[in-house]
Amino acid sequence: MGWYKNAVFYEVYIRAFADGNGDGHGDFRGLTEKLDYFQELGVDCLWLLPMYPSPLRDDGYDVSDFYGIHPDYGTLEDFKAFLAAAHARGLRVIADLVLNHTSDQHPWFQAARADRHSPFRDYYVWSDTDQRYRQARIIFLDTETSNWAWDPVAGQYYWHRFYAFQPDLNFDNPAVQAEMLNVIAFWLDLGLDGFRVDAVPYLFEREGTNCENLPETHAYLKRIRRLVNERYPDRILLAEANQWPHDLRPYFGNGDDEFHMAFHFPLMPRIFMALRQADHQPIVRIMQAMPPIPEACQWCTFLRNHDELTLEMVTEEERQWMWREYAPEPRMRLNLGIRRRLAPLLDGDRRKIELAYALLFALPGSPILCYGDEIGMGDNIWLDDRDGLRTPMQWNDGLNAGFSSAPAEALYLPVIDDERFGYRRVNVAAQRADPGSLWHALRRLIAVRKAQPVFGGSCCEFIESDNPTILAVRRTDSGETILALHNLSGLPQRLSLDLSRWQGARPRDLFSQEALAQIGAMPYALTLQPYAYRWLRLEQTTDDWLEADGHPRRDL
Ligand code: BGC
Repeated sequence: MGWYKNAVFYEVYIRAFADGNGDGHGDFRGLTEKLDYFQELGVDCLWLLPMYPSPLRDDGYDVSDFYGIHPDYGTLEDFKAFLAAAHARGLRVIADLVLNHTSDQHPWFQAARADRHSPFRDYYVWSDTDQRYRQARIIFLDTETSNWAWDPVAGQYYWHRFYAFQPDLNFDNPAVQAEMLNVIAFWLDLGLDGFRVDAVPYLFEREGTNCENLPETHAYLKRIRRLVNERYPDRILLAEANQWPHDLRPYFGNGDDEFHMAFHFPLMPRIFMALRQADHQPIVRIMQAMPPIPEACQWCTFLRNHDELTLEMVTEEERQWMWREYAPEPRMRLNLGIRRRLAPLLDGDRRKIELAYALLFALPGSPILCYGDEIGMGDNIWLDDRDGLRTPMQWNDGLNAGFSSAPAEALYLPVIDDERFGYRRVNVAAQRADPGSLWHALRRLIAVRKAQPVFGGSCCEFIESDNPTILAVRRTDSGETILALHNLSGLPQRLSLDLSRWQGARPRDLFSQEALAQIGAMPYALTLQPYAYRWLRLEQTTDDWLEADGHPRRDL
């Protein structure tokens, strides 16, 4: 089984994490000093947001040099030292790969716009009119009015799916295809464990389509995978494709010719819906609508990340409902999403936050945590764009939350300092010292999940119960069966499950180690406290639900 199939990932915004040189910006030195932290938490793989030179108009997703490290973060040597230290601890590291576009400050774009005959002109997508590809939607709706921008120097329009300062690369140009393969090889040669590949649906444009998920795009992504298979086995490609289930599935190809992993965008908002509605249906329905994926592949599941909580993969009605429930103030909304962190979204309610993680960890896929959400950090909706979700990590209640020794006004963004979620109250040091904290609960969840390989498998059955507020999921793999029960409501719930197919087995609570009553022929009754969860491993006391080879009967 590939390492990524049952790994826990952790998203790091380097600028926000730890400032090693006291200039107010996080960097590789600071991050290297924090490696023990990840081990203590129990995560397996870090995902680094873009670390390349950039004018930083989109926090590094506007790359101006694919082969370097942003000076704020250190040098290439600092990066190498960080990677070696991470590997020495058994931690893997993947990084963002921004394929679709560059910064308008990239020398390729500067050369392209300056000279129609430059070999770089054709690195980008130019047009004399802004009327082509009209069916492509605009992603940054709050800022952009068109996917075309006029460039007075070039005397033409250029194509951009994101901000106007991020011109799209022209993947119809074989030179661009080759350039990006070189970029990939450069970082993998340095030992990087793979990439989170940014914005993959948009590589090609074709008239008469919405310019997403095109066959040409898949063909190029398969070229990338060939390179990885041939030269870098054991490294991974994780797709950022914010798409509906039927469009997502093709990114896994036949299991070994496109992506190893893809973010599970459709599931994420439905976890929030299920919690607010105290109803398992939103989760059950989307999971049942997801096509199966090849055995070697895996979903990457998440609750929040560095972007707004995207509401692209819900219906218009669901979006309006989510905005009403979770973004009552206009300032909380951004594009088609919600710019809030996990803890404020869930009312700072420790039980709901922990339950959201339990759901994430119980469902198929490898979970990824967003830095700061493990302690329930707050946000600042008054900062620009998505900056409110990217504030300094809250390490302790000291100067600058322990993030930096620089004067407060030199910090790249102010620390969160409100009464409820601010660093004086919410910080790593305090939670580490308190065995009852969210941080410790999450650490336990990670440990329990990792000790049960069954969670890395794909088998997932929702068990019917007479109570819609309960999400009961069965995970089975290699002779192991776990029932994970979650109470989505704020009231104690009685539930009664037909577990007769496991008659004779005895459930053991994976957290308390308590052995529960043996399962009999009658419905199995349990009570779950408000927002509580229980994960039960079925331990056999008789063999009658097992095949002769010790595996559970296939019809179960
Ligand atoms: C990233 C965003 C970024 C965009 C453009 C996204 O999918 O997650 O943060 O702004 O790509 O690169």
